Amino acid sequence: MGEGKRNVVAGLIVLAGFMAFGFLLIYLRDFAPDKAEWVASYGVGKHFESRLAHAHGNLFALLNIVYGVLLTRLELPERRARAISWLAVAGLLMPIGILAEVTFGAPPVFVLLGGVAMLAATLWLGVAALGVTTTPRAPRA
Ligand code: HEM
Repeated sequence: MGEGKRNVVAGLIVLAGFMAFGFLLIYLRDFAPDKAEWVASYGVGKHFESRLAHAHGNLFALLNIVYGVLLTRLELPERRARAISWLAVAGLLMPIGILAEVTFGAPPVFVLLGGVAMLAATLWLGVAALGVTTTPRAPRA
């Protein structure tokens, strides 16, 4: 699978993690002893930030899966493909950084680094794909 494999693997594992986190959000909303307080704080503080982490974690994980598949399909120079691949993995720092902020008050530096890395991976993959003439691969036997 070449350079895209790490993105597919990281994407699927992180997607599962943020899906599981969705069940914690269900518990907090529907079952926790202080659920009324949690529901009332929908748009602010920990409730808002947890949802932000959940939404971006799932999205960035899916992006890694898509970029991983693209990296296996597009015939890019190896070093460029590796750099784009690692930038997309580093992008996962963004939602993980939001969770770290909510849970242990970590500084927002990981959120910013991850966001910039994912933006760079996206733009670079787009520009790199411009110069590629894809040849359809023969189906595997
Ligand atoms: C088993 C998987 C999942 C579970 C159990 C789950 C659960 C939840 C829950 C309980 C909320 C509401 C959080 C709140 O109280 O504020 C929520 C919000 C959200 N989820 Fe998920 N989720 C899952 C998967 C996903 C996936 C795969 C995506 C995206 C690809 C996603 C995107 C979102 C978004 C964007 C919101 C915010 C919606 C809004 O604020 O209007 N979720 N999810």
